[in-house]
Formats: sequence, structure tokens, C-alpha cells
Amino acid sequence: MGRAETLPEIIQGGMGVAVSHWRLARSVAAAGGLGVISGVGPDLLLARMLQDGDPGGHVRRVLVGYPDQAFVEATLSRYLRPEGLEPGVPYRPIPKLDLHQRLDAVRLTALGTYAQVALAKEGHDGPVGMNLLEKVQIWTPPALLGAMIAEVDAVLVGAGVPSHLPRLMDGLARLEPVTLPVDVSGATSADDFSISLDPREVVPGLGGALRRPAFLAIVSAHVLATYLARSDDTRPDGFVIEGPTAGGHNAPPRRPETDDTGQVVYGPRDVVDLAKVAATGLPFWLAGGYGTPEQLEQARASGARGVQIGTVFALSAESGMRTELREQLLHSLADGTLDVRTDGRASPTGFPFKVVQQAGTIADPSVQVQRERICDLGYLRTPFRREDGTVGYRCPSEPEDAFVKKGGDPDETEGRLCLCNGLLSTAGHPQRRPASTGLTEEPPLLTLGQDLDGARRLQEMHPDGWSAADVLTWLSPALERR
Ligand SMILES: Cc1cc2nc3c(=O)[nH]c(=O)nc-3n(C[C@H](O)[C@H](O)[C@H](O)COP(=O)(O)O)c2cc1C
Repeated sequence: MGRAETLPEIIQGGMGVAVSHWRLARSVAAAGGLGVISGVGPDLLLARMLQDGDPGGHVRRVLVGYPDQAFVEATLSRYLRPEGLEPGVPYRPIPKLDLHQRLDAVRLTALGTYAQVALAKEGHDGPVGMNLLEKVQIWTPPALLGAMIAEVDAVLVGAGVPSHLPRLMDGLARLEPVTLPVDVSGATSADDFSISLDPREVVPGLGGALRRPAFLAIVSAHVLATYLARSDDTRPDGFVIEGPTAGGHNAPPRRPETDDTGQVVYGPRDVVDLAKVAATGLPFWLAGGYGTPEQLEQARASGARGVQIGTVFALSAESGMRTELREQLLHSLADGTLDVRTDGRASPTGFPFKVVQQAGTIADPSVQVQRERICDLGYLRTPFRREDGTVGYRCPSEPEDAFVKKGGDPDETEGRLCLCNGLLSTAGHPQRRPASTGLTEEPPLLTLGQDLDGARRLQEMHPDGWSAADVLTWLSPALERR
């Protein structure tokens, strides 16, 4: 039996930066689904959770089980502020990862995913997964290592073609030194850009081999599924097939087109041929508008093992979204004004991104004009080759002049939002800025899927809000009916 065969029919999709954090993943896993933590920005998240005082002592509790206690102690003494930060005091920066993997930065990333997965796995036997983005390659090896030390059950990777993941995970499971080729813009055929990681150097004190989790590739085209399934080196254990209404990033449409309001539109060529996916022989889950019992039944009837759901979990009580933001969204949902647009410009990745048009967030033009462009987190920076063969990093959301100075096309900067700071703010850890820059705090950025049917119906059943378990209770009879 394949590794993915035992995974549940219902997957709670990974939602960055910390909308799907450990509390949500734990609730879903305890209620019978696959709970998935977001593995994006685990280093920063850990540092900020500790600076916020680690209320309840949850992080400190699980860090006791980490094999490298010397690094745990160093991290706590550097970041833990038991009383939290004084109002207005900015968070301390963390060491930034790049192609030259600084050991302290690599270690912080591994510790961050370890903490999230270990917390999500506490107190139940349900399976827990981690979501990664292929676009954020530089963090991938240490994020995987930390999660595997915490015995993560599945790894789900989207936003790109994750062809190196199976071998990378095999190597890490055996605690062997691993290498991951990295995409560098402008690289020539003579270049060989990659990052390497030796598990035993990164985490001294590691014991024997680690368990190899299941790997699900999140794709939006059957050709990609067929391509990945063809070789032992690239074959995942299963697929999540994500359609264009899904929250977060979406695959670009085959034919780039926008409607008269500037929204990206998808056409018949973007419809996935599920028979071709089924022909790979690997199990698959459907995502993007599969959050109701009828949609789940429909997915199962089309040969899918189950569904991956985001939006209704993002709006549930255990969501990592700041409570006041989630409540605003629930109000807009109730009064019919919730507006989610497929924005082709917002994300610096160049992929379409679903943006909720909510006042007070960075989608609000009056907030946008007040925000001074700054790039101080850098998860979505693209490595590029300089003329001398060295590697630089740039992001179309950084200040325009800096981007252009690094050889970036000025047109690329138009309409770009800072997803890193916006999503961190949504998750309740906004960077504070000096008042002279315009805003005293980074504004949030909200994303949801465009199919709101499931959310509306849950709201009718639970006018005061619903939990992750309520979602699974509502959907489960649809599994039994088949
Ligand atoms: C708030 C939010 C954040 C998301 N972030 C990510 C992410 O970081 N990585 C990812 O692969 N998918 C992300 N997604 C997509 C979900 O994992 C899931 O596939 C999608 O939401 C399913 O469609 P639905 O929203 O219609 O249920 C996100 C979705 C939402 C709603």
C-alpha cells in the first residue's frame, strides 16, 4: 500500500503564513481529517511567538523534546520575552536564509517547523501534514528536517513543480547530507546553483533514521501530474488537484486574460482532465470549491479519494487569522458583501492571488498609499545571477529603485503587495514601524477562496461561528453515503 493510501478523505489545506497553524491542524487531525500546518516562515513565526511571550508556554513545552537542547536554549535566550514586547517596540530581526545557508538560520527554520508539527500532533493519534511552496525553495530542506524530526505524516507542496522533493525526503529520512537544486533567474547552463544540508550538522543529537512522510504534489494541470508520476525520482505519493477558485495563490491561466475589472479569468483549457490524473494510479484529492457535502460526494464520484478544503477552515474558530479580522469577514459573509478577487498583480511571485477586498487591509487603496515599501522578510525574493556569476536577491514588492538597481523590470513592481508582511499581520504578528513611515503597524492582507457556498451554509447552521470539528461533522455523512 502506498504511503498516501491511509491519509484521510478530508485534508485541511495549508494556509500561510499561520492561518493554518498548530491549533487548527491539531483540531482537524483530532476530528478525523489531515490537519496541515503552513511551513512558510517557520523561523520568523517561532521568533515572534516567543517575543509575544509564548502565552500558555506551549512552544516551550514541546521544545523540550528537540534533540539539540543547546540550540533551544540559545533561541529562548535570544527571543523569549515572557511579558511580550512593549507597545510600539518592533520585533527583533532574524538571520536571513539565502543560498549560503547560515547555520543559525538553518537551525532556526528546522526548530520552527519542529515546534509547529509537535504542537499539532499533541494529544491525539490523527495525522498531521506540512505545506511548503516550491517558490520558497531556500527554506525547504531545513523545514522538512524539523517537521520530520517531529514525525510529520505528510508533506504537501504547491506553487511550482516539486520534482526534487521525493529524493530530498528519502535522503533526509536516512539522515544523509542532501542537495536541492535552486532556480536562479538568468542562470546559464554552466551554472549549478544548489543548497546543501547535513542533518547531523544542523541538529546535533539526532538518533536513528527518521520516518519518511507521504508526499502530495499540489498541481493544477493533468500534464504536470503525468510528468511527475513518470519517474521514480519525481513520483509523489499522491496529488492535490487545485482549481482556480481556491484561496491563496492560483496557477496562472493557460491563456492570460483579464476581465473588464482587471481580474484574472480562467477558461476551458484550465479544466483538469481527471481521468488522466487517475491514470497515474496515484490517489488524488480535489481542492478549490469542495467544502460542502455535495461537492465532496461529487469529488468522490469523479474518482478522487477526497478533498482539500481551505476557506471554511480559515473562517473557523481555530483559524490563525486575527479574531477581529475573521469576525469582519464573517460579517461581510452574512451581509453578502464579501468580495474576493483574483488579482494578477498583488503577489510578487507573478502568480494570481486571491485578495479579499476589505477596508483597513493592504487591499484598501487608502491604506496602500500610506505604506512605505519595504522588504525586510524576503521569503518571496527571487535569486538572480549577477553578471559576475554571483547571486543576488530581489522582489518586485520591494522599493522600486532597489528592484530596478538589481536589474529588475520596473513594470514588474506595479500593483505588487508585500505578502510577507501582510500575511504575518493577518496571523497576529505585525511588524511595528516608526510613525514617520506612515503606518505604525504593517496592515493585514486577507485571502479566501471564491466559492463561499460552504461558508454561507455553515454560517446558517452556526450563526455564532463554527469549529473545525463542526466542518468535519457536517461533511462526514457524505463519506459514509458512498
Ligand atoms: C487563507 C488561505 C491561505 C492559503 N495559503 C496557502 C498556502 O500557503 N499554500 C498552499 O499550498 N495553499 C494555500 N491556500 C489554499 C488551500 O490550501 C486550499 O487548497 C484551498 O483553499 C482550497 O480551496 P477552498 O478555499 O475553496 O476550500 C490558502 C487558502 C486560504 C483560504
